[in-house]
Amino acid sequence: MKIGILGSGMVGQTIAAKLAEIGQEVMLGTRSPEKLQDWLAKNPHVKLGSVSETAAFGEVVFNATKGDAALEVVKTAGAKNLAGKILVDISNPLDFSNGMPPTLFVSNTDSLGEQIQRALPDCKVIKALNTLTASLMVNPRALADGEHTLFICGNDAEAKAVLTRLLTEWFGWRDILDLGDITSARATEALLPIWIRMYMKFGTGQIQFKIVR
Ligand SMILES: NC(=O)c1ccc[n+]([C@@H]2O[C@H](COP(=O)([O-])OP(=O)(O)OC[C@H]3O[C@@H](n4cnc5c(N)ncnc54)[C@H](OP(=O)(O)O)[C@@H]3O)[C@@H](O)[C@H]2O)c1
Repeated sequence: MKIGILGSGMVGQTIAAKLAEIGQEVMLGTRSPEKLQDWLAKNPHVKLGSVSETAAFGEVVFNATKGDAALEVVKTAGAKNLAGKILVDISNPLDFSNGMPPTLFVSNTDSLGEQIQRALPDCKVIKALNTLTASLMVNPRALADGEHTLFICGNDAEAKAVLTRLLTEWFGWRDILDLGDITSARATEALLPIWIRMYMKFGTGQIQFKIVR
């Protein structure tokens, strides 16, 4: 499958490397390909492209951009390039302007996931993977044998079923919990303050939410 990934930080690089390793066709969309040359030498099967080329390339597209840039980046990616496609939105609305811990720059009555869905009405935005560290996104079994929970939400039930199947096949997820429409991004983005407090307490990102029911 052709996968586009917007943003070449820790998350974009981790997902790109894993998907290329398991034989998917991957394009990483970046403003600055020159800074990725060393990484590309180790991941020679990943293509680099502009943000809009990457959106056009992907059959499924991941948004792994910094929260305060995410809306602008997906608009640059192009509503036409993303129309009818699944956009997995991993971004978080974190405001670090007053240091650690960050606050949320949108919350309670709106979310970054909803803002992105409104900007791309013909795209199937699914909020997912935003509540855990990058290495666990692609290798959940590295912690507690994968017995922990991944939240997803979005307006299109069929798209969520497709993504659930893909995340299970690609990365080995076992417990994917559908929280309903994209307004549930208000809740999953609001998990970041507690996630960051736990990160500060334990000094590691190898921590996860597990919903016992
Ligand atoms: N790090 C984690 O483990 C983790 C876990 C869960 C969720 N998240 C969320 O996932 C997203 C990505 O996190 P990250 O840690 O990989 O990296 P990040 O530092 O948040 O940045 C990701 C990418 O965003 C793009 N970007 C930054 N500023 C921009 C601007 N002004 N205009 C356009 N693009 C800009 C850059 O891509 P290019 O330089 O390639 O253009 C950058 O590499 C964030 O929203 C974060 O909150 C991260």
